[in-house]
Amino acid sequence: VRHLLGIKNLTENDIQLILATAREFKDVINRPIKKVPSLRDITIANVFFENSTRTRLSFELAEKRLSADVVNFSASGSSVKKGETLLDTVNNILAMKVDMIVMRHSSPGAPHYLSDRIHANVVNAGDGTHEHPTQALLDSFSIQDKLGEVAGKRVAIIGDILHSRVALSNIFCLQKQGAEVMVCGPTTLIPKYIAQLGVKVSHDVREALNWCDVANVLRIQLERQQIKYFPSLREYSLYYGITKKMLDELDRPIVLMHPGPINRGVELTSEAADSHHSIILDQVENGVAVRMAVLYLLAQMSRR
Ligand code: CP
Repeated sequence: VRHLLGIKNLTENDIQLILATAREFKDVINRPIKKVPSLRDITIANVFFENSTRTRLSFELAEKRLSADVVNFSASGSSVKKGETLLDTVNNILAMKVDMIVMRHSSPGAPHYLSDRIHANVVNAGDGTHEHPTQALLDSFSIQDKLGEVAGKRVAIIGDILHSRVALSNIFCLQKQGAEVMVCGPTTLIPKYIAQLGVKVSHDVREALNWCDVANVLRIQLERQQIKYFPSLREYSLYYGITKKMLDELDRPIVLMHPGPINRGVELTSEAADSHHSIILDQVENGVAVRMAVLYLLAQMSRR
């Protein structure tokens, strides 16, 4: 395996290897000296055609903690604006002796297209509405951290499932590890094919919260909506918004997750997002260790 393009084609063993390796790296980055020399012979380009805060910074920190050389590319301000193609852009970056490409792109399948045409490793940092594999891995790592294991847990993914790459990668990742998954949201934001993936479907957020051990809450992705969807943000927050009171009143504690960015006051109130139920910032912390593991394992396989 030379690339990480998605979770769909990983085995449970692949996932466990990445999570176990991430656990070792989490120990490393909690030491006073947070760096190891593992990738000092590797140069990585973070190629972002879409906006990002967490994923881009987390990959860059992961690369630096592994002692890789790092270059960052953002489409805005680049020659993409003059009409240069994706492949020309990446081939020019590779000509500067780059070994790995970490790419975010708005088109589903863009990293797959690239991986068929270049010799460097490709890591998908989110491709349109398709997959966001490192997010799903860090989410599973965070569930392991909090609840001991993923197997047997009930995870409700609540929100805009239709436009979410996080939802799809999480469904694959959780099911491969033996978790049960429910998706919850308005009918207009749940794709019809989703039931074929073996997940439960609910349109009632209270039902989802009462059912689950973990609620992974997603934002409404207005930037991906081609037409005006029902509900509006105000209607969404009225029917699906999660408050601290709703979490406090559950019969048993649940873990609240969100991949970020949060639309405070829409899918979550600030009180809920910042409450003791939430592990949202732990997810961000764990992202660095998980991305170190992915980069380290891909580099190891390429050296063989
Ligand atoms: N979770 C996530 O992908 O956040 P960013 O878009 O900020 O990278």
